[in-house]
Amino acid sequence: MSLENAIARLAPAMPAFEPGHVWLAGAGPGNVGSLTLDVVAAIADADAIVYDALVESSILDAARHGVELHFAGKRGGQASTAQDDITALLISLARKKRRVLRLKGGDPYVFGRGGEEALALAQAGIPFRILPGVTSAFGALASAGIPATMRGLNKAIILATGHAGTEDDLDWAALARTGQPIVVYMGLRNLARITAALVSGGLRPSTPAAVIMAATTSQERVLVSTLEAIADEATAQDFASPALIVVGEIVSMRAELIALERLMRSA
Ligand SMILES: C[S@@+](CC[C@H](N)C(=O)[O-])C[C@H]1O[C@@H](n2cnc3c(N)ncnc32)[C@H](O)[C@@H]1O
Repeated sequence: MSLENAIARLAPAMPAFEPGHVWLAGAGPGNVGSLTLDVVAAIADADAIVYDALVESSILDAARHGVELHFAGKRGGQASTAQDDITALLISLARKKRRVLRLKGGDPYVFGRGGEEALALAQAGIPFRILPGVTSAFGALASAGIPATMRGLNKAIILATGHAGTEDDLDWAALARTGQPIVVYMGLRNLARITAALVSGGLRPSTPAAVIMAATTSQERVLVSTLEAIADEATAQDFASPALIVVGEIVSMRAELIALERLMRSA
């Protein structure tokens, strides 16, 4: 069967994308292959797409001819578009009876301010729908060969933001005491402070740690190290955003699982 026919058969019975509605959708961690069929259908149908800095912008190639594209993300160190401006844009496009797709990286409800946008749309009386996406933590772990859970190693996994300043920072010591692996979004800039806080909170300095950059894309890079060394190594090796930090014994499974994957593929 051709890919087109397979997609046509599998394409779920999508609700109609009505003029004047806003769909908040997750584009996944970056590569085109991680898009859900629902999101591909929404990209193809939308009259206006308001998008963040997507790791692979070719995702927008699926949009219809003449679509209105509005960039609402942060690029090249520039300030990001103010959240109030983004919600005002969504509301005004919907009031002009456009079918509006708000496209975000990963999942719209994971560290993506999707909840705030949904509340603002509801307050303005605009009908909206959420289309889930693969959040970058789980896309990145699988792509880098690190199991998110592994019997005998962990019973939970923590998703945290490393974006906070010193005053409103997370209680990293409390997270360290759980003994469960931690995946940190937006933490690269604060990596030295986060790793030091986890060590003071009781994690061994030799705890396995990784940084996964541009996960799932052709630019993906993975650095495996220890909690005490990873911040310096990431700086020395020019690791840059978008990147996730992974801390915990699950990282130690990577070498074996990647070797096995390669061996089985070449067998
Ligand atoms: C504003 S948050 C958005 C998270 C998104 N809603 C999600 O569910 O993945 C942006 C952060 O997600 C992480 N991220 C997003 N895409 C990534 C990728 N392809 N590789 C590594 N990290 C990624 C980085 O930590 C980045 O700073």
